[in-house]
Amino acid sequence: MTRSFAAPMPRPAYTLARSGRSLLARSMISLGALAACMMISTPDASARAFDSKAFGTLSSGQKVQRYTLRNANGMSVQFLSYGGIITAINVPDRNGRVANVVLGFAKLDGYETDSAHANIYFGALIGRYANRLANGTFVLDGQTIHTTVNNPPNTLHGGLVGFDKKIWQVRKLSGLSHAVGAELTLTSPDGEEGFPGTLHVTVDYVLDDSNRLSIRYRATTDRPTVLNLTNHSYFNLGGEGSGSIENHTLQINADTFTPVDHAAIPTGQIAPVGSTPLDFRTPHRIGERLRDNHPQMLIGRGYDHNWIINGYDGRTQRLAATVTDPASGRTLSVSTTQPGIQVYTSNSLDGTYAGPSGHAYRQTDAIALETQHYPDSPNHPAFPTTTLRPGEAFDHTTTFQFGVTGAAATQ
Ligand code: BGC
Repeated sequence: MTRSFAAPMPRPAYTLARSGRSLLARSMISLGALAACMMISTPDASARAFDSKAFGTLSSGQKVQRYTLRNANGMSVQFLSYGGIITAINVPDRNGRVANVVLGFAKLDGYETDSAHANIYFGALIGRYANRLANGTFVLDGQTIHTTVNNPPNTLHGGLVGFDKKIWQVRKLSGLSHAVGAELTLTSPDGEEGFPGTLHVTVDYVLDDSNRLSIRYRATTDRPTVLNLTNHSYFNLGGEGSGSIENHTLQINADTFTPVDHAAIPTGQIAPVGSTPLDFRTPHRIGERLRDNHPQMLIGRGYDHNWIINGYDGRTQRLAATVTDPASGRTLSVSTTQPGIQVYTSNSLDGTYAGPSGHAYRQTDAIALETQHYPDSPNHPAFPTTTLRPGEAFDHTTTFQFGVTGAAATQ
């Protein structure tokens, strides 16, 4: 039985001109009539590419490849066979200037050592259970399951060796139209990190010519288990290492959220966002209420919460969140079939690590938009179920649509 299905892709959006000097751009600007400068560019199908090259060797001796997906617009996405880690998403700003809008490390040992040491998870595929399981424990079909506690007293993002630290098998997806993509597969043995069932996981990364990156997650099991998969990219639409995202604006399609206790575990309550700093039903500057003394903001040291995306039915992809950087004009809209989105303003980054740009990363230098099931769902029967049984298929898709807003510079 299929428990949920991939939803149809959102309506294709216009692609964006790469150069502010294009005739179309200049005539639009001189008209001065449009706030949003959405232009049709001519995609170059011959630019579409899939390639791979060696990225380094893990301390275990395993070799890691880095893959590049490039679309006909010149947008590209890079990821590793290690953890499925997205190391770069290169997108143009409103003037056609391309920047990498995700945080990461220049070298593999950053991902293997620093990221693991500080529980950072830059760009990684997260499993088996995204976010926290209280005390690492839950009851499934009457049996108490103990998973590896790696964030005392809880299990965070799958335990000590989660999917973010596994070598995934990668192959090019064929037969895609106006897109380029890769399939990543992993088999997680029965009992891994304490989770029951042999799990077969397939994740597709597809970059299309409308500057959309879609991530489809599928899984099956041979014993009842629980599962919560996401990607942990840290976005900064000004470019990684460009400073804080406090001036980005954020809108979240959610009327409610799941408040957490001091161990960052949901209390079980479904709370309205109204009259709280978590109300992003209309766009707000992220920094506007970041220093609010609302108890939830103090517990999270900023935003680190699961919003309940409106309209969940298990299979329809709907808008979850939109982020806009007024300075570069870059925009990002996230849509998903998943029930929730963990929005995290990189509250733990403290200047200890620097990215490929050579700039150190500090608190609020990025925003993670982790579409997923609610944290600790196995301990909250009222939350949408994360149980996966033999014969069922886990199937969720999240789409990151990149764009620009605002007029290009004339020069
Ligand atoms: C969690 C944070 C955690 C971060 C990095 C997020 O998904 O919600 O609490 O600090 O991941 O591990």
